[in-house]
Amino acid sequence: MLAHHRPKWKTHIGFVLATVGSAIGLGNIWRFSYLCYKNGGGAFLVPYIIALFVVGIPLIVLEIGLGHKMRGSAPASFASVSKKWEWLGWWQIVFVMFGIVLYYSVIIAWCLNYFFFSFDLSWGPNPDNFFTEVFLMNTDSPFSIGDVRTIILFSLAVVWFLNWVIVFKGVQNGLERASKVFMPILFILTAVIIIWGLRLEGAAAGVAVYLKPDFSQITNIKVWMDAFSQIFFTLSLGFGIMIAYASYLPKKTQIVRDALIISGINCLFSLLAGIGVFAVLGYMANTTSLPVSEVVTESIGLAFVAFPKAISLLPAFSNLFGILFFGSLVIAGLSSSISIIEAFASGIVDKFHYPHKAVVSVLCVAGFLGSIIFTTQAGINWLDIADHFLTQYGLIIGAIFECIVIGWFFKVNKLRGHINHYSGWKVPIFWNFCIKVISPLILIAILISSLIEEFSHNYGGYSPVAIILIGRDWLIYSLFAALIIAFQPWRLDPRQRMLIHEKEEDKKVS
Ligand code: TRP
Repeated sequence: MLAHHRPKWKTHIGFVLATVGSAIGLGNIWRFSYLCYKNGGGAFLVPYIIALFVVGIPLIVLEIGLGHKMRGSAPASFASVSKKWEWLGWWQIVFVMFGIVLYYSVIIAWCLNYFFFSFDLSWGPNPDNFFTEVFLMNTDSPFSIGDVRTIILFSLAVVWFLNWVIVFKGVQNGLERASKVFMPILFILTAVIIIWGLRLEGAAAGVAVYLKPDFSQITNIKVWMDAFSQIFFTLSLGFGIMIAYASYLPKKTQIVRDALIISGINCLFSLLAGIGVFAVLGYMANTTSLPVSEVVTESIGLAFVAFPKAISLLPAFSNLFGILFFGSLVIAGLSSSISIIEAFASGIVDKFHYPHKAVVSVLCVAGFLGSIIFTTQAGINWLDIADHFLTQYGLIIGAIFECIVIGWFFKVNKLRGHINHYSGWKVPIFWNFCIKVISPLILIAILISSLIEEFSHNYGGYSPVAIILIGRDWLIYSLFAALIIAFQPWRLDPRQRMLIHEKEEDKKVS
């Protein structure tokens, strides 16, 4: 018989906050604003919103609908469609759990270090030098590994410990409770940062640079690519996370409305966080008498170089500002990393019926050990290559298959029928066309253009050997691992498993 009961969200808001927590991550704070600035300011919102409606929302509806119908993690859900496709579910969660989250957690660890550095502004007068030479002690090649940076290793252990504590406690007492604490704190911190930022001198000029629309950019194909890939990463699509989270929903639920709420909150957060970021950059440009274009950077450069510089320049309470900023990055990051650990753990539990707590413990230890390579002196180079390949290719290829499997093999209309049966707001028939044709075509176009770029020059100027070993092979090994796991026998046939959970659910309802 069934070895476990499927956990459930205690409250509906708990589910929404947990999915929003997964969606809102470092990408919303440090990537969106830069993309927007670079790609035509306010005009970028046009491709971004189109991407949201044409790919983002259709896919999030698909993932929530699939997890809800199949009552299982990504592998269990795909296996219920057909055993042939089980590997796809495994692949998604394997390369996110044993790829993306390994370096993502190291970035959270850096944020934690910088949180403490903020107390006395330890980065001193030259944050640039401090970050690469003093903090990371970066070597210039991925193959000169050097030593593990103990200060990073230590905070990494804290990050994995927190991941463990939260996911170990299960869906209701762990993920749901943590999200209910994390998300309000994150929203408040962000609001404080935005208001504080906007009151600084030069803020308005910074925000103007961020949002001033330049519609001439709209014809540029790269701008559209950026919009689509950002939507994808920011909504955690193709990670297998939404599928797992939706499988803990009760039968009666509002799939369409939830998909709109989750993506709406996520995108609004990005837009607002961008205002905070550019207000601060505007202030920095103003005090250093440089144009804003000279002070903007994205991602790692923004958080660990530009922001520390700006923080040091603040007239008052600068350490408090740093604490708030890095604190919010830590929270945004943690609420995303816990989501993939749960998504992976639920895959293992569904298939092998091992106890959840044991699975999570093993996963977190393995995750911590796997992350250590990124804490070495070559860490940032590894991170850069792995990130490029796993997000540019892994997520996109996984999602293309996802659309094809559901659109063409499963008969997308069946899933639409299921969603509309429970959902108050209905999925229009146009959705079928999005999943079957539009989304996969757009994703294939992104894939091809990335591949062309890949072959035209070595990514980031790294040696081809490094790119092959750290980038391409990571994807290939994770695919092998997925295939090996997919070939293992199920404790209980996946369809039967689904039916049992369905019955269990019906009993509760009646
Ligand atoms: N959506 C997140 C962001 O914008 C990324 C993310 C979601 C993530 N879930 C994750 C990253 C799990 C790593 C692991 O940053």
